[in-house]
Amino acid sequence: MAQLAHAGVSELIHSGMDVLKGIHKVPVVFQHAMLDVITPDDDYLAGIIERAATAGPMHYNLSVIERDEAGKERWVQGLLAREGEQADGHAVLEMIKAGRLWLQVEHLKELAPELEHMARQAYDELKRKVAGFTYFNLYSNLLISGPRAKVTPHMDVAEVFLFHLRGHKRMTLWDPADVNIPDSARESIILREQLEDIEIPQEWINRGFAAELAPGEGMNFPYMWPHMVENLGDLNVSLQTEYHYPASMRRYLALYAQGLARRRLGMKVCNDLPESAVQESLRAVPGLLAKALRLHSPKPRKVAMEFVVDTAASDGVRWLPRDEVIALEK
Ligand SMILES: [Fe+2]
Repeated sequence: MAQLAHAGVSELIHSGMDVLKGIHKVPVVFQHAMLDVITPDDDYLAGIIERAATAGPMHYNLSVIERDEAGKERWVQGLLAREGEQADGHAVLEMIKAGRLWLQVEHLKELAPELEHMARQAYDELKRKVAGFTYFNLYSNLLISGPRAKVTPHMDVAEVFLFHLRGHKRMTLWDPADVNIPDSARESIILREQLEDIEIPQEWINRGFAAELAPGEGMNFPYMWPHMVENLGDLNVSLQTEYHYPASMRRYLALYAQGLARRRLGMKVCNDLPESAVQESLRAVPGLLAKALRLHSPKPRKVAMEFVVDTAASDGVRWLPRDEVIALEK
């Protein structure tokens, strides 16, 4: 069970306004005190992994990166355990440490309520500390990844705060204005026509905002800033949270409406979204209506579970025969 070292920790964000004031606009690295509340050691993580395995694959995403013949990387998802089988949390953890497995545990309210609770406490604290900060649609998950794991450039459709708990990682973020991401690419991601991957021009790969995170540090990923993450040689554990705030929701809905207009009505949308909040709000209204009327219903994304964790396999991955692969709507 959860090891609550000091359940009554009153302050989870240590950094002051001088650091936090840039949130929303630029990436900010801050200090947090979550490690005074939980100890994310192997026993703690193994317990969460076992509960996730028992709850089933809709409660987690377990991935490896595969390369095709052309050398292109592809994320492949799999199972912690077959249905009805028990996972050994410590064994899974050893395999994450040894290999290239990447695990995201969802439904924390059920599987690790203390983490969900800490996330909410931290956000409420930011609301008190940072003038104008507000949040809704908060969602949390726990990321456990191996020493060489990396996440290639992509964009999330909400603003992200990462509370780093164990290991070391390097984050690189790009200002969307610098790397020229067209609205049409953002619309495709928001309308779920494509995954969240983004091509970053080669000349920008080493010129983004880069920061190395250690346990006890946290960072925000401003809304729709492309980013990539590389682990730096040890097991990494982070509480990842995402949320919306009025300006991000306005932009989301404006892009949603603009994407539908471009696709359904054949409208030539030449302009990028306006900078003015009022103009953007006007563009967001049709997006809100389209959402309410369910005008756009993308096909559910089917994800194949192609492998199962197996301690007998050299890299911990046993590929399932084609007739045993199951596809889930995730
Ligand atoms: Fe991300």
